[in-house]
This record gives sequence, C-alpha cells and structure tokens, in this order.
Amino acid sequence: MTPRPLCLTPRLLAVASFIRPTDRVLDIGADHARLPVYLTERGLCAAVTATDIAEGPLARAARTIRAHRLEGRIPLLLRDGAEGLDPADYDAVTIAGMGGDAILSILKKSPWLWDKRLILQPQTRVRDFADRAGRTPAWQVTASEGRRQYTIFVFEGAV
Ligand SMILES: C[S@@+](CC[C@H](N)C(=O)[O-])C[C@H]1O[C@@H](n2cnc3c(N)ncnc32)[C@H](O)[C@@H]1O
Repeated sequence: MTPRPLCLTPRLLAVASFIRPTDRVLDIGADHARLPVYLTERGLCAAVTATDIAEGPLARAARTIRAHRLEGRIPLLLRDGAEGLDPADYDAVTIAGMGGDAILSILKKSPWLWDKRLILQPQTRVRDFADRAGRTPAWQVTASEGRRQYTIFVFEGAV
C-alpha cells in the first residue's frame, strides 16, 4: 500500500514554506526527519540532507524515511551542526526546534551558513534572537499551534 503523504503542523509548515524548488537543503537537528520527508515526498526542493548530533534521533529519522518509502533519497549524517560539510553542496539551511543558544553556537562554528538562505526557529531566547545573531532577518513570521506561538526567522544569504 502506498503510504499517505506526511502532513506538517503549522510550525514546520512555516519553515517549509521558505524553501525554494531549486534548493539543496540541509536540515540540522532533523530528529524525526518530518521536514525532509515532507519536502522530498512533495517534490518541494532539489535535494535534502538531514543531520543530527545523536544516534537516537537519526534512528527515528530512518524510521520515518522507511515508512514513506524514501530509502536512499535523504542522506542521514551524524554530526554536530554543519561540521565537516562542504558549503558548495547547499543553498538553504533549516534549524528548527532547538534552543536559541544552540542555534547561534552552530552558526558560530560554521560561519559559512550565513551565506545560505537560513530558516531558523529557536525554541528559547526568541525575543532577542536576531539582535544576538547580529543580523536583520529578511522575514520574521509567527506560526500558532493552539496557544503556542513559534517565531521563524529567515536570513537571506548570498545565494
Ligand atoms: C527538538 S528536536 C527538533 C526536531 C526538528 N528539527 C523539529 O523542529 O521538529 C532537536 C534536535 O536537534 C538535535 N541537536 C541538538 N544539538 C545539535 C547539534 N549541535 N547538531 C545537530 N543536531 C543537534 C537534537 O539531537 C534533536 O534531535
């Protein structure tokens, strides 16, 4: 039986809405890989790579990918942030559902990320996130899920 296409809740849907069809996407901290699977299943980007710092989340990601019959379509990488990756391989980078400090630390370790379209959804320290990043977002949108509000910051890189 063909699996039903995955649906996203408003938070990740808002993140996905900033991906362009030609983007080669890097999703850092993918965990369950719902965002990469959504983008791949619906053909919303050129390619997507999912990373996570821990084995458990990567195993979850592999399960989601298998359930949607996308084996071999979404590379899964175990690593801290974007360490060791080639900047030339990506046009857009998503980091969602992580603390604001953790996101800024990843960006500090790999400053080349700022050259890409960066779509960031910090879970904490949201109010002063852009100030502490020292950049002005091109877009800042809010997604509501019940009473919870999530802010998505989009920074335009050189691409
Ligand atoms: C709460 S989940 C968010 C999952 C998904 N991005 C979302 O928004 O629903 C955060 C994930 O980030 C991962 N993570 C935390 N620090 C990381 C780092 N420095 N590099 C890569 N992944 C990291 C965690 O292991 C966890 O799986």
